[in-house]
Amino acid sequence: MSRNALTLVFPAAVALLVCSLVVLFLTATGLEPGPRWTTEPEQAEAGGCGVIDKPVVKPDSLQLNQLGITPSDLAAGDALFKSNCAQCHAVNDVVVGPALAGLDKRRPMPWIIKWVKNSSKVIASGDEYAVKIFNQYQKQQMPSFALSDEEIGQIITYVRSQQGTAGPAMYAPQAVAAN
Ligand code: HEC
Repeated sequence: MSRNALTLVFPAAVALLVCSLVVLFLTATGLEPGPRWTTEPEQAEAGGCGVIDKPVVKPDSLQLNQLGITPSDLAAGDALFKSNCAQCHAVNDVVVGPALAGLDKRRPMPWIIKWVKNSSKVIASGDEYAVKIFNQYQKQQMPSFALSDEEIGQIITYVRSQQGTAGPAMYAPQAVAAN
């Protein structure tokens, strides 16, 4: 290679390397946000170093975005589900309680939160759906859970990722659009 070509290529290579390192650092420290639910219209901004942000997933019917839930909450939801709910619930099968698959199609998130925190209270309030499901499951009382709204949102994130055989379909924009 001639000397001239080297003086051109070398700085470009260094710039590329620095750029990749910066992106890597931002991603590792979490400063570069991953996909999120947002109420903002879809945007594809060019980030630093010409990196195009991943498409932003539109809000879904569960309003998980309002709880600040992101796909990275999946692991937390998995753990919470296994330690609190799995003894009575599976996502796709009836165990002691109903299969939780499709829950987001049946109930709005605020209802789910109220129910998990204190299902007896929802039943006592005369909520038609709650009374019906309580009777349907032989008036078996589900325990109350001292979980936060965020934690319940994480559990629902996990449930949605497991329903059917579709895997983490909740993160696919077309699946969200179908809601
Ligand atoms: C001891 C058993 C038990 C545990 C543990 C339990 N549930 Fe339940 N759950 C039930 C039963 C039984 C019902 C059916 C309604 C009733 O009988 O009150 C139910 C109903 C539900 C419903 C309504 C389902 C529908 O199809 O509309 C949701 C949502 C739910 N449970 C979520 C949870 C979550 C989330 C957890 C863990 C944090 C959990 N449950 C832990 C027994 C349990």
